[in-house]
Amino acid sequence: MFLSRSAIALIGIPLLLQAGVGHGYPGPGIDSRSEELGQSLLYPVSVALSTQPSTAGHSITRFQLNASFPVATLDYGYEVAGFPFFDVKSVSGTVQIEVKYAEEFAALNSNFSDGPFPYAVSLANTYRVETYEIDCAGTTQAFLLQGGQRWQSIRLLTGDSIAFSSAGIVPTTPVMDIEDLPGSFTSDDDDLNDIWKLGARAASVACVEEESQTTMWEVDATNGTFVRGMRAGITTKGAFFSDYTLEFDAYIETGGIGWVVAFPLASPVEGIQLNLVANKQSFVNTNTTLTVPNSILFGYGYSLVNVTTLTSYYLDTFTVPFTVQERTWYRVKTILDGEHLAVSIGVVQVFNLTLADYYIGSSYITNGKIPSSGSFGFGGWQDQAGYFKNVTVYDTANGTELYSNPMTDSSSTGVTLEYGVQANSASVCLDGPKRDRLVWLGDFLHTSRIIAASTSRFDIAKSTLEYVLSYQTSTGLLPYDPPIGYVADLASEAFELGGGGLLEGSDVYTILLADYQILGLLSFASYIRTSNDLDFASESWTQWQLLVEWLIDSISSATRLLDLYGAFLGPSTGGSAVSCALVQALNEMADVATAIGDNSTASSYRATASTLASAINSQLWNENLGVYSLSPSDPDDYSVNSIAFCITSGTANATQAAQLISALPTLRLSPGYKDSTLVSSTDTTAMISPNTNGFLLEALLSQQTASAATTSKALLQSLWMAMLANDNTTTGASWEYVSQTGDPGYGPYTSLSHPWGGAPTYLLTEWAAGIQTADGVDGFGYRNWVIRPYMGIEMGLKNVTAKVVTAFDGTLEVSWLVNDAATSVDVTVKAPVMTSGRLELGATNKILAGSEEYRFSVAL
Ligand SMILES: *[C@@H]1O[C@H](CO)[C@@H](O)[C@H](O)[C@H]1NC(C)=O
Ligand SMILES: *[C@@H]1O[C@H](CO)[C@@H](O)[C@H](O)[C@H]1NC(C)=O
Ligand SMILES: *[C@@H]1O[C@H](CO)[C@@H](O)[C@H](O)[C@H]1NC(C)=O
Ligand SMILES: *[C@@H]1O[C@H](CO)[C@@H](O)[C@H](O)[C@H]1NC(C)=O
Ligand SMILES: *[C@@H]1O[C@H](CO)[C@@H](O)[C@H](O)[C@H]1NC(C)=O
Ligand SMILES: *[C@@H]1O[C@H](CO)[C@@H](O)[C@H](O)[C@H]1NC(C)=O
Ligand SMILES: *[C@@H]1O[C@H](CO)[C@@H](O)[C@H](O)[C@H]1NC(C)=O
Ligand SMILES: *[C@@H]1O[C@H](CO)[C@@H](O)[C@H](O)[C@H]1NC(C)=O
Ligand SMILES: *[C@@H]1O[C@H](CO)[C@@H](O)[C@H](O)[C@H]1NC(C)=O
Ligand SMILES: *[C@@H]1O[C@H](CO)[C@@H](O)[C@H](O)[C@H]1NC(C)=O
Ligand SMILES: *[C@@H]1O[C@H](CO)[C@@H](O)[C@H](O)[C@H]1NC(C)=O
Repeated sequence: MFLSRSAIALIGIPLLLQAGVGHGYPGPGIDSRSEELGQSLLYPVSVALSTQPSTAGHSITRFQLNASFPVATLDYGYEVAGFPFFDVKSVSGTVQIEVKYAEEFAALNSNFSDGPFPYAVSLANTYRVETYEIDCAGTTQAFLLQGGQRWQSIRLLTGDSIAFSSAGIVPTTPVMDIEDLPGSFTSDDDDLNDIWKLGARAASVACVEEESQTTMWEVDATNGTFVRGMRAGITTKGAFFSDYTLEFDAYIETGGIGWVVAFPLASPVEGIQLNLVANKQSFVNTNTTLTVPNSILFGYGYSLVNVTTLTSYYLDTFTVPFTVQERTWYRVKTILDGEHLAVSIGVVQVFNLTLADYYIGSSYITNGKIPSSGSFGFGGWQDQAGYFKNVTVYDTANGTELYSNPMTDSSSTGVTLEYGVQANSASVCLDGPKRDRLVWLGDFLHTSRIIAASTSRFDIAKSTLEYVLSYQTSTGLLPYDPPIGYVADLASEAFELGGGGLLEGSDVYTILLADYQILGLLSFASYIRTSNDLDFASESWTQWQLLVEWLIDSISSATRLLDLYGAFLGPSTGGSAVSCALVQALNEMADVATAIGDNSTASSYRATASTLASAINSQLWNENLGVYSLSPSDPDDYSVNSIAFCITSGTANATQAAQLISALPTLRLSPGYKDSTLVSSTDTTAMISPNTNGFLLEALLSQQTASAATTSKALLQSLWMAMLANDNTTTGASWEYVSQTGDPGYGPYTSLSHPWGGAPTYLLTEWAAGIQTADGVDGFGYRNWVIRPYMGIEMGLKNVTAKVVTAFDGTLEVSWLVNDAATSVDVTVKAPVMTSGRLELGATNKILAGSEEYRFSVAL
């Protein structure tokens, strides 16, 4: 997710692809470039040549763009990520090409494709459109990686023609064969098989290896720091500056340079945007209405343009009274005094404006006035690039120097780390490869469970947890979305204290989404349950305990319900969803405590969970409606999250659970369930969240009734098939939000590869195939397991094979086949001999122990 201001207010063979070759990983010896790089390259499965973006592609090898066919559309078939490269065979004339990248096809027709992505630095290109001038044959590779895409277009802007011998992607995420992952699920229902792959694919591209997301700036000992157009990288050292003067030397390489001042490191990540635009613009597609030549642009917000709920204000354009040259050094001075903003270049003052004169909306955060405090940083607009050096900052009122940096330290502890643009120091799971490339704590819950069922990249799951722990505050809180280009040593204090935003103060940043702390605990507990990594559990235990204590301390002594500052799952004050989620986290953490021998903590967590569950039942259970109230102050409303977590936490007994499930139809909209009864069913813009519907799906499946199987299957068909139904929008990965028409919820900006939307991957394994860990510590790492095929059979499946990786030297694989007369099911279980389990189906409860393979038949 991304937390917007409004959310806070709520709280070679390149293209030699033969038919059927699929994704064209070139074989050994065939692709010399691939060998040189020691890495597979990704090539499009089809290329279309036309006058505009087109889906009518062919598996062609090489292609040429000319006046008759100026646009090539490359289709990678599904979500890929990496550095785009272009092998150019020949050019005729002065060739400029405009390249666009997109997850859904239609975005190729938009000015900015499906970007820009100004919410965070994220170690990927902020922009989805790039322009190249290519004057000779050879290979051109993008310096900045593209986070995630299926589609790409190349448009000939100038020159007679350009011939490509290939174009493709050097991947920056683990390249996995989704058909052959360590964990798998196959059935006789192809739709369910494809749905299972959605989460697996999203997690395979969202979980990135250490150092794979590369450093964005190049630091030179003489020339300073070279910055390509991007959402500004911000120094941690300026987080608590205000009313300061910033000076630096700037050299425009192409187009212009950008910088920001009074810009917080943490929420809300918006501030003053400035851009110096050169007089001459080399690229013919430069939008000179937006980046007006020979001027300084002044804006406020996330960017210079609006993207969904990330509001930006383009406030003014100031003509520079002399010619701004490319490839010339200028001393740029930016002065903030609390009331005014002035910029001069050399001795010439270009403007001096009064901040209060500019309208920036009326959010309570800024109270309508542009703030004058927060850090500063450097970036630029699309296709711009330039050098920055000799940066100094001093207090505007008294001249005291606050900061000075020649911007020439290229070491790994130098400029790039300070400004948060350095290659990721840890392997981490991001929210999505394209957007929200931050380590979102709460959203990791689905990811960690998907990993266990599919990719088995437990190493990245663990490293993600270590990464958030590295930022833990002294009170126990974890950051809800740490960025990946800083390290905690330098940045944690700035983030802990709000990062210089207006919500300054201890822990303010972390408590905005305080329930993400609970989902973080659940992510950890789920990782330990499936991996049995007790060493990590023991090593990090005191840190997790500190966090649990913070949450327990947040239980109100008056209401005995959880009382938080802000929450994502629902109301934060006495909310049923957050309170039930805490019951679940406490019980799961108690299991971890037991596993590492901390019995006293285990019993204390269980006792607290039980008391909290009683309070929820006595104060929030609405007997008339048969639901848990959203909160004490909203007794007659209820939500998907409260139904989901109050069932999965065991807070609801069987009778209550059945009542909750029968209250669901009120929440049903076309493709899935709306968040709560507060959302109007006639609001056609209300989005369906595969994240929360994923929590609900688990609650439904756990009912183990025929009707819950029918309801679950219908939800899978309506919500998750929407992500596969349209070839123009599918990426083969799970989505962030779905609209009521089954399209990407936020339009092109939607992340179409978001593991938080991929719950069916683990739920089909657990409830359709029926492979589960046994309850309690005995089930950790699948030492003890339970096979429950009932819901799969009730969904109409006849033939299912699935496997998971156990912590005990091997996989646990289950196959079952319903016979033609549907009178019995033949079951085969293969499991490491040191594990044991049982099969539960109707009256059958068959113990399976002491062998590597079990074959038997159960009557239906
Ligand atoms: C223009 O490009 C198309 C598509 O690559 C190609 O078929 C055609 O021969 C080219 N035309 C010329 C005049 O080169
Ligand atoms: C960068 O420094 C080198 C010398 O190290 C010099 O030759 C070059 O012109 C400089 N480039 C810029 C943009 O200043
Ligand atoms: C150019 O920028 C202006 C101002 O932001 C915008 O209205 C217009 O749509 C843009 N045009 C293109 C082709 O990007
Ligand atoms: C962004 O949207 C707001 C309204 O939500 C509007 O006031 C503002 O002018 C827009 N900014 C741009 C750059 O179009
Ligand atoms: C900007 O204008 C204000 C108001 O006239 C003045 O007080 C301030 O000193 C000026 N700042 C600069 C840097 O010229
Ligand atoms: C940096 O800028 C300051 C202020 O303009 C100047 O005095 C100093 O000589 C500059 N240092 C370098 C290394 O360019
Ligand atoms: C200058 O102002 C800063 C506050 O920005 C203050 O901390 C510092 O003590 C002042 N220095 C002098 C010499 O007055
Ligand atoms: C903790 O409890 C388990 C049973 O739940 C028991 O086997 C174990 O010995 C206990 N450990 C300690 C240190 O008391
Ligand atoms: C389930 O909970 C409800 C509400 O607390 C209670 O009235 C009912 O007796 C419970 N049913 C069972 C079977 O425990
Ligand atoms: C996909 O896009 C193409 C090209 O714009 C269009 O012709 C086709 O109708 C679209 N398909 C769907 C299902 O929207
Ligand atoms: C069951 O599915 C497997 C593939 O998953 C297939 O090989 C096998 O033939 C199927 N069995 C029947 C009886 O359909």
